[in-house]
Amino acid sequence: MTELTGKRVVLGVTGGIAAYKAAELARLLVKAGAHVDTVLTEAAGHFVGPATFQALTGQPVWSDLWDQRMPNGMAHIDLTRGADAILVVPASADFLSKVAQGRADDLLSTLCLARGCPLLLAPAMNRQMWENPATQRNVAQLAADGVTLLGPASGEQACGESGLGRMLEAEELFEDLVAFFQPKILSHKRVLLTAGPTFEALDPVRGLTNFSSGKMGFALARACAEAGATVTLVSGPVSLATPRGVTRVDVRSAAEMHQAVLNAVDGNDVFIAVAAVADYRPAQVADHKIKKSGTPMTLELQPNPDILGEVAGLPQAPFCVGFAAESQNLAAYAEGKRRAKKLPLVVGNLVQDGLGGDRNAVVLFDTTGSHPLPPASKLEVARGIAAHIAGLLEQR
Ligand code: C5P
Repeated sequence: MTELTGKRVVLGVTGGIAAYKAAELARLLVKAGAHVDTVLTEAAGHFVGPATFQALTGQPVWSDLWDQRMPNGMAHIDLTRGADAILVVPASADFLSKVAQGRADDLLSTLCLARGCPLLLAPAMNRQMWENPATQRNVAQLAADGVTLLGPASGEQACGESGLGRMLEAEELFEDLVAFFQPKILSHKRVLLTAGPTFEALDPVRGLTNFSSGKMGFALARACAEAGATVTLVSGPVSLATPRGVTRVDVRSAAEMHQAVLNAVDGNDVFIAVAAVADYRPAQVADHKIKKSGTPMTLELQPNPDILGEVAGLPQAPFCVGFAAESQNLAAYAEGKRRAKKLPLVVGNLVQDGLGGDRNAVVLFDTTGSHPLPPASKLEVARGIAAHIAGLLEQR
C-alpha cells in the first residue's frame, strides 16, 4: 500500500511555463500508486508534450474534445467517471476565469463542468495577473463553488518579477493532494506539539543532547494538519522540513521549549509532547570554551521543568498526550507514566522499534486499556494516533 493506492486522478495541464512541474507531479502521483489520466489544453502543448506524460503515467494522453479513441465519443464524461479528483497544474489565469464562468469550450474545461468529483486548481501566473481584480473575483467565485485552490506561492517568477502567483512545487502539490484525501477528523481543533531533542549548552561549542530525530513528532504534526487541525509545532534542533500548513517555532534548550509551549498553549484543544526533553541541564554554562586540563572533571546538573506535567496541570488544560520511549517493560512504564502525569493518553514504544528510523510500532495506553497499532511508517502510525485522539475527543 502506498499513499495513493486505488486513487484515480485526472491531471489537467494548462498553458504556462510552470507546466514542466506537472511532469514531476505525474511521476510522484504514479509512484504513490495513483492511476493518472493526463489532459493537456492546446496551450499546454506549447510547453510540454503528450509523450512525456504518456511515458510517466503509462496511460494515453488526452487533449481533443473530439478524440476518436473513446469508443462512445464521450471523453469529456468518461475520463472523470470514477475519478477521485481533477487536479489542474498549472491553472492559468484564463483557465480560472473559464471554470469560474462555467465555460466548456475544450476537453479540460468540459471535464471540469461535467465532473462528479472534487476539483483542485494550482494557479500559476504573473503577480499582476494574480492581483488583478478580475482574477480575484474569479478566485472568490471558485471558492464559493467549492473548488479548492492550492497556492499560489510568493517568490521569483519566470518573467523576472517577484510576488504572489508562483506555482507550488511538485512535492508541495503532492503533499497537498495526499492531505486532501485524508478524513477531516480534527477540523476546527487546535493542536500544539513538541518534537525532536533538546540541546543543553555546556559552553559555546558543546552541550548535552540525545539521538531523537524528530521524525515521529513531525509526522504527527503533519497527520494532525492533514486531519484539518490548526497545528503549532515547537521543535528542538532537527534537520527536517516543516510539514505543509504547520506553524513551526524553533528552540534549542528545554528552557526555551518550556517557554515556547507556555507562550502558545492558550486556546489549544490538544497538546502532544513528543520531544525527547533533556531531564537535566548543566548548572553553569561557561562563557568561553572549556579547556582540557588532564584532570577529572565533574558536571553539576540541574533538573529541567517537566513541560508536559506543567501543561497537564493547567486549570484549562488541553487534552494532553505523552510519549514513553522505553527499552523494556513498556506496558508497566508507559501506564505508570500516564497515571503519574494524569494524562488521558500515552503513546508507548520500545526505543529499538522507532528511534531515528522511518518506521515505528507503538501501543496506545488510555483509561480503557492498551491498544497496539500495527508496525508501519511513522506517518501511518501518526495517522493512527491522530484518529485515536479524535475518537477520544469525541467521547469527551
Ligand atoms: O517524564 P518522562 O520524560 O518519562 O515523560 C516523557 C513524556 O514527557 C514525553 O511525552 C516528553 O515529551 C514529556 N516531557 C516533557 N518535559 C520534560 C520531560 C518529558 O514534556 N522535561
